[in-house]
Amino acid sequence: SIPVLTIDGPSGAGKGTISRLAASRLGWHYLDSGALYRAVGVAASWADLDVSDPAALVRCTFDTDIGFRETGQGLRVIVDGVDATDELRLETTGALASAIAAIPEVRSALKERQRAFRQAPGLVADGRDMGTVIFPDAPFKVFLTASAEERADRRYKQLKDKGVSVTIDGLLREILARDARDAQRTVAPLRPAPDAVLIDSTGLSIDQVVAQVLALLPS
Ligand code: C5P
Repeated sequence: SIPVLTIDGPSGAGKGTISRLAASRLGWHYLDSGALYRAVGVAASWADLDVSDPAALVRCTFDTDIGFRETGQGLRVIVDGVDATDELRLETTGALASAIAAIPEVRSALKERQRAFRQAPGLVADGRDMGTVIFPDAPFKVFLTASAEERADRRYKQLKDKGVSVTIDGLLREILARDARDAQRTVAPLRPAPDAVLIDSTGLSIDQVVAQVLALLPS
């Protein structure tokens, strides 16, 4: 079957950067599963939906068209025909995505869309439940962590480069709240698959982490 490398972990651990680099070194496809949850969040906010109305959010999940487009400025995410990439990255969108992601029917509605990314010659899948729920048979699984302070610091730098004004303390609080919600939800809680390799990226360079990840695959 087509090989999958799953990279799960808490927010800000560097999953996106590491997964994209690993995919490009391997020549494999890349799935940013968080972008799907974020896209539903954006669509729900455009439609002014009530976040405490699960039925409306489930309908919104089925109705929202989500596309990925590789451009000169990186991967763009198109929600119902509109480029929503910048709005997708906001921490407010992350928090909304995390609330929506706790609804079991939303998760199951997105299951097949995620599995459809498994195409030859292989897939690198980035998220929270890639190794546990979506691709449990993946031959290569990583659980990527970093200290909460380092994760807040990385997010801060990313957002500052984009001109978004935030504070490290505010981000740290938001990240810890989102982690707690992702770990405590009853459906697909954030946790390593039993067969995942744990990599702590605190203090490591991007290249060092990519090298550790790629070392799991036969060369
Ligand atoms: O990875 P990212 O920060 O973009 O994910 C946003 C939110 O979407 C996470 O906080 C999590 O609640 C949810 N998510 C999820 N399962 C995934 C990917 C993301 O529940 N596979």
